[in-house]
Amino acid sequence: MTIKPVTTAVFPVGGQGTRFLPATKAVPKELLPVVDRPLLQYAVDEALAAGIERLVFVTARGKGALDEYFDVAAELVASLKAKNKTAELALLEATQLEPGRIVSIRQQEPAGLGHAVWCARHVVQNEAFAVLLPDELLWNPAAPALAEMHDAYRRLGGNVISVLEVPAEHTHRYGIVTPGAIDGLVTEVKGLVEKPKQGEAPSRLAAIGRYILQPEVMGILAAGKRGAGNEIQLTDAMAELIGVQPFHALTFTGTRFDCGDKAGHITANIALALEREDVGPAVREWLRGQLI
Ligand code: UTP
Repeated sequence: MTIKPVTTAVFPVGGQGTRFLPATKAVPKELLPVVDRPLLQYAVDEALAAGIERLVFVTARGKGALDEYFDVAAELVASLKAKNKTAELALLEATQLEPGRIVSIRQQEPAGLGHAVWCARHVVQNEAFAVLLPDELLWNPAAPALAEMHDAYRRLGGNVISVLEVPAEHTHRYGIVTPGAIDGLVTEVKGLVEKPKQGEAPSRLAAIGRYILQPEVMGILAAGKRGAGNEIQLTDAMAELIGVQPFHALTFTGTRFDCGDKAGHITANIALALEREDVGPAVREWLRGQLI
């Protein structure tokens, strides 16, 4: 059986971003920059590198800036052209998507990640699709996370999620995998539990915000069952697919920054700035001075 490539990606960006208040009162968390690119741009680049053609943003009230970001800034382009600012124009062009590739959907209430994904059901229809949480910055330019997952999916079919081993004392923050057979970086998923109580996690393998899922998950989400935090949890819906469809976890080999968290976001800025030729030397010099 040939497995059709995945061409649709859903970006749930409807969260309130309360950990970044007051900034997120006016600026969506997903537009907070890491160096000079918004978090969402990193996730979009990762999706495009995996062959994704259609990008579905599940946004919310007050997050209109996300739609603005992917639109053509006609006045800005005209003004840059008039000033012959070619480098800046090239930057804008490199992030411009063809018309019609973006679908924007409103999540009418912040009822959880599962609910946000379900809001995309009429776009996804009957095909496998990817989900990327942009506040998880998975940094691996040589082998971007979703592209690696897509390769695994072409071999394995079913559902594939990205995981990372986290310290035992952090498992209560994540969706945690009950592992089955292990083959290199691929682990068979025997069970999934969202935010297990301290000491009750079935492993240290945590889901880190990248998923390739079969459309049947939408039917499960439709039931609107509430889980941890009284939210409709994607993890709970995925758990119902285990045993019915193939389900695997692929361990991410790059560097993961949890940019939904202040310390993670600051760390990502420092790490990526240090890799850059333009700002890297100045940041390195300042850091050296601080660490003496
Ligand atoms: P988080 O748990 O980080 O929640 O959501 P949040 O609201 O974004 O941030 P905090 O915790 O209040 O600071 C994980 C992902 O799920 C999306 C978020 O946008 C983020 O990408 N999400 C969450 C939704 O799209 N809708 C929701 O109802 C909840």
